Amino acid sequence: MTSVVVRPARKPLVGSVPLPSDKSIGHRAVIFAALSAGDCELRRFSGGEDNVATVNAFRSLGVEIEQVGENVLRCSGVGLDGLRGSLGALDCGNSGTTMRLLCGVLAGQHFESTLVGDASLSKRPMLRVAKPLRSRGGVLEGEPHPTRSGDITAPLRVGALAEGERLAPLDYESPIASAQVKSALLFSGLFASGPTSVQEPVVSRDHTERMMSALSMPIESAGPIVRLHPPADPKAIRRFDVDLPGDLSAAAFLLVAAQLVEGSAVTTRATGLNPTRAGILEAIRHFGGQTDIQPQGDALGEPFGEVTGRHAELAGATIAGELVVRAIDEIPIACALGARARGQSAFLDIGELRVKESDRVATMASVLRSFGVEVEEHEAALVVEGRPDRPLTACRIDAAHDHRIAMTAAVLGLVADGETTITGADVIATSFPRFVGTLRALGAEIEVRS
Ligand code: S3P
Repeated sequence: MTSVVVRPARKPLVGSVPLPSDKSIGHRAVIFAALSAGDCELRRFSGGEDNVATVNAFRSLGVEIEQVGENVLRCSGVGLDGLRGSLGALDCGNSGTTMRLLCGVLAGQHFESTLVGDASLSKRPMLRVAKPLRSRGGVLEGEPHPTRSGDITAPLRVGALAEGERLAPLDYESPIASAQVKSALLFSGLFASGPTSVQEPVVSRDHTERMMSALSMPIESAGPIVRLHPPADPKAIRRFDVDLPGDLSAAAFLLVAAQLVEGSAVTTRATGLNPTRAGILEAIRHFGGQTDIQPQGDALGEPFGEVTGRHAELAGATIAGELVVRAIDEIPIACALGARARGQSAFLDIGELRVKESDRVATMASVLRSFGVEVEEHEAALVVEGRPDRPLTACRIDAAHDHRIAMTAAVLGLVADGETTITGADVIATSFPRFVGTLRALGAEIEVRS
């Protein structure tokens, strides 16, 4: 088991750094490439173990995916009718996105599959995808969820459709804004006999829709409603090459660290700027923080650019409503802003955080308390009392199988009064394998201990 040790920053964080490729876009790029009609090249594919879990799952489903250069994958697409059943279970590791998106793809196949995951993934709720998929004829079963009565969790068994059978059309109103649910349903829609419509309460990240549009698939969006017509031709997804944008969710830790450490100026290169994902940049501004954005282009419909974060005097803020959806993975690191902002900060409407890689409402409350920060925990909210005038209390934090908790604790450690240790820090590699090296390159005193 690996620990990360962080010492208080004695100088500003300064520099321009590359990012791992966007995790969400990476999963989808692999899926579209696997289902495409030819050879695709996925460049700057430098993401972490979660993306590798998706790659390995498609290898097990009979798709040839080779590494042909540093961070370059070549994937020989098999078309919409070319996947083959896997001999063993598909291991999704820590990755909820892998498991839920695969449910959508596999529900439309004529072979059976089993999906397994690690201890954290084996507690995550899966009825949210199983229920709508069942309603269009998919066969999905799981283990009863240990604490959420009526829900199911991994291992999941996805049954085979009968020969000649296709999934039924679907018109689904999702009770939650979830890109994983929406995307699972859209992927299943590629194997359906009629259209798939999904409506969500607030628009969640729209990477699947953007990629489908960029690949000329018949998809339309109007606000929170999206509709896909199933392609008639199994070779409908054309081959493509893509340079994946960097992960804004990874950049967030560096950009927030820059706000906290006096004198800092940190630039993240080729950073994904999809507006349905970029809520953290707005949140930083709500706290009085500073970010500059230089747009640079787009890749498969995904805008990207250079982002610079600079140290600022922060003031307490409220983060709530649809901004939470656009910053759903960044609430833990936004809590670090709250911990160093003058006055009270409130994070409202964050109930979904209870079903992430850890219960992030409870874990963040406990992490902040360990650093000496006063926090009130509610069912769907955290209220944080910022203390910018004195350092936080150095402490020992367990990562709780959650990469974003580990990285948030490391950033808080930069403004603590001594050495902070994060145990179980191997999990950082699920999304940002070079996190420690990147922070060190910016001037932080941080190291890995086995
Ligand atoms: C993701 C969607 C979000 C997010 C996750 C990645 C995706 O999950 O938290 O890290 O790639 O679709 P939900 O759909 O459960 O909100």
